[in-house]
Amino acid sequence: MSITRREVLGGMAASGLSLAFKPSPQLLSPSASKFRFVHFTDIHIQPELDGNLGVKEAVKKIKAMKTRPDFILIGGDHVMDLLKVTKQRADMQFKLLADALKPLEMPVYSVVGNHDVFGWGDKDSDKNSAYYGKKMIQDLVLKGSLYRAFSFNGWRFYLLDTVQPDLVDGWRSEIDPAQMAWLKTDLAKYPTMPKTLVLHCPAISTIVQVSEGANKAADDSWLITNGKEIVDLSIQNNVKLVLQGHTHVVEDISYGGVRFITGGSVCGNWWRGPRLGLFPEGYMVFDVSGDTFTNYYETYGWVARK
Ligand SMILES: [Fe+2]
Repeated sequence: MSITRREVLGGMAASGLSLAFKPSPQLLSPSASKFRFVHFTDIHIQPELDGNLGVKEAVKKIKAMKTRPDFILIGGDHVMDLLKVTKQRADMQFKLLADALKPLEMPVYSVVGNHDVFGWGDKDSDKNSAYYGKKMIQDLVLKGSLYRAFSFNGWRFYLLDTVQPDLVDGWRSEIDPAQMAWLKTDLAKYPTMPKTLVLHCPAISTIVQVSEGANKAADDSWLITNGKEIVDLSIQNNVKLVLQGHTHVVEDISYGGVRFITGGSVCGNWWRGPRLGLFPEGYMVFDVSGDTFTNYYETYGWVARK
């Protein structure tokens, strides 16, 4: 299968960068609650290179954690690729996914990734079919709205859809106007609650600077086009954490009191070893206490098949 820039943004000969900042200590509120969740992003399940077995190993490691996560946030790209495949191949990937994630007993919440959209990379795909576009991921995985929010132990979590149709390239990364309006309204309803946004494509990232050069601009296949609006809204609305995927790197940018954390990937360099030689297959663990959190990247010992 040939892989294009827009399809996976992978395989670039480049060096990577992990920007790790320690969170500044803050006072906990008297009603401080503690909970744990896992950011499990860019799974890209496939039978090739035993990718499905890799996901099972990652799940096994989560289940073996001494402190059980209260829930899992999947950051998109559940499957290897739906943009330009047959329905049969898409079905097979979703079956592998369901099988690999089945042992997780805790709630699992997902956002859409660009690889989760059926047919947008194929001009001949039947646009009127029952499974075109986001319908498969919506029916089989999200089991609800493409964007939504939930509250947990005093925090508000927003699961956003960063993948929109594009006439020229099939898709582009953006928050559509209806979703942005909904987000603004909901953020304003909970002014004092600490918040987390979950995105597939990042709002902020150094990925293009570290891989292509300091003065290169990121196009809409890398970062969401209205990312500035997300950054401004986050600063204004007590958003503490923006979780990002898509680039498969581990990155932590603190800006205006908001941490923009890109959580590596379950599949590393699409099951071919560590991404950019630096970021192995893994997931990010978050421990929340009151309105602060700590986090670490956990690998699960996967060795890429030859
Ligand atoms: Fe991905």
